[in-house]
Amino acid sequence: MKIHVKDRNGHDEIIECDAGNLLMRVLAERDFVDATCGGECSCGTCQVYVGTDHFARLSAPGEFERELLEGLTNTQPTSRLSCQITLDGDLDGLTLEIAKPE
Ligand code: FES
Repeated sequence: MKIHVKDRNGHDEIIECDAGNLLMRVLAERDFVDATCGGECSCGTCQVYVGTDHFARLSAPGEFERELLEGLTNTQPTSRLSCQITLDGDLDGLTLEIAKPE
């Protein structure tokens, strides 16, 4: 599957990845995000702004993700934590932008 990533400098990149991966792992391996807590849902450095089409298809964020996002200042309406998103076939073609730094 492919995902379309816009980095913090505005550069677009298409990444090939396997279904079943955590989105955060795919992004961290390529140094798009720091993901400093390693996916424990406690740092917020894996935040992305998901394209509106795909945002509506994601399952709702859990309580910990919601609370963490509420405490960040760099969120947008389609913000999600990439460590809480598992890539499945429905997300092929996912578009996202790496969140601006806090
Ligand atoms: S990696 Fe820390 S909140 Fe996602």
